[in-house]
Parts: sequence; structure tokens; C-alpha cells
Amino acid sequence: MKLLYFGDVVGKPGRAALTRLVPELRKQYAVDLVLANIENSAHGFGFSPEVVAELEACGVDLFSTGNHAWKNGEGVRMLEKNPKQVVVPENYLDPLPGRGYTELEVNGTKVVLLNLIGEVFMEGRTQSPFRTFDRILEKVGPEALMLVDFHAEATGEKRVMSWYIDGRASLLVGTHTHVPTADAHIMPLGLAYVTDLGMCGATESSLGMNKDLALKKVADELDVRLEPPTEPTTVTACGILVDIDEVTKLATKIERIDREVTL
Ligand SMILES: [Fe+2]
Ligand SMILES: [Fe+2]
Repeated sequence: MKLLYFGDVVGKPGRAALTRLVPELRKQYAVDLVLANIENSAHGFGFSPEVVAELEACGVDLFSTGNHAWKNGEGVRMLEKNPKQVVVPENYLDPLPGRGYTELEVNGTKVVLLNLIGEVFMEGRTQSPFRTFDRILEKVGPEALMLVDFHAEATGEKRVMSWYIDGRASLLVGTHTHVPTADAHIMPLGLAYVTDLGMCGATESSLGMNKDLALKKVADELDVRLEPPTEPTTVTACGILVDIDEVTKLATKIERIDREVTL
């Protein structure tokens, strides 16, 4: 099974990158499943049904999120209907709308996508992401092919998670920092792992947000609201291409797919 997973999609520039790239990458690599983190896809904060429809139209099948999942009212109303194709972090303590994991069948194999949130340098009250993984794995059963998005700030926490679930899951991607890491590899027991996918968004930006607004907010300490740049000329899409043996559930290949698109 071949799949593509893209990091945090930031606003219209991020969506433009995927709209351009996903159809050709799907064809080029004969991909079975395309996933993306959409916590910043609606103008930088949250997602909306329109955004999901736009990304589905270009060939993205499944969506994970993170701490910004509930920042858009339309997105929250969508989550209240429990959509099957969108997951939110499973291990927040406070009850928030949305499902933490979803199951689907790909080429006759039961695939589960689980979304977890980190506890180091992150806001919100949580249960252990480690014990939460155990709990969900027990629920879905050992026959499931597990894909995990661990949305977390600390690289060390994500790396420890890779050791915790190696041999029990097929893929672990880190998201949230918006900065891609160069450590994509197969772990000793067959887990494909990367500490952070990076983002899909404007190239000349600060983590996908307008750099001038970010300068005002961070360097000048002004109370400005960040938003993606409106007219970027270049957009970046960061993600990975993974190959997983459907019988053994072991990953056989992981490589970075980082592309720049001129609009
Ligand atoms: Fe993000
Ligand atoms: Fe985040």
C-alpha cells in the first residue's frame, strides 16, 4: 500500500500547493491513500467543510488535525456530525466534538488513522498519548494497519513515541512545528517514522503565516492576528511517500516528498 501524507496545510496557499501537486503525485506513484493535517487550512486556524471538499476534490482522502482543530465555527459544526474522514486528537481530557480515530478499508485491508496530541510545551489538559495509543490499539484489534499523527511540539516526545509503537503501528508522523525534519526512516520493527512532516504553505512566510505580521507580533511584541499571506508567489508542500506491506504491516519504504510550486 502506497500512501502520501502532507504536513499542516496553512490557508489558501497550502491548499493551492496540494491542488497542484496531489493529482500528479497520485498518478506518478500509484498512490492508494492520501492524507493531510488540516488544522490550519481555513485561513490559518481550523478547517471548514468547504476546505475539506476542496482538498477531497484534488485527491486527499483522510484528514488529521491538532490543537487548532476547533478554531473555525463551521469546522466545529462539521465535527459535531462526526465526519468519518476527519480525526481530532483522541487524548484531550475535555470532551470536544469529533472522533480521535477512524477506520476504513483500503485494498481489503483495515486501516486505522489515529490522531494524538503531545503533552510537552502544549496547551490543554490531556491523557497520556502513550496509554491512549494502547487503548485504541486494543479497541481496533491487532489486524488493523495503524497510521498515527502525533501532533506535538517536542522532538524528543515524538521520538519516544516512535520507540513506544514500533512493531505495533505501520506509520508515525509528527506534525505541529511546520518545520520538516530530515530523519524519515524505517524503525527496527517496521514502523515508518518522521519527527515532523513540515507544512504546506507560503514559502516566504513564518510557519505559513504572513512574515510582516509575524515580525510585528514576535519582534515588536504587538497584538496582531496572524494570517497567511494573500498573494504568495511560491508555495511549499512538505510530506512523505510511504510503502507498507499489507500482509506483514511492515513499512518497506519512506521518503520525503518536499516540493515547491510557483503560482
Ligand atoms: Fe499547525
Ligand atoms: Fe498545531
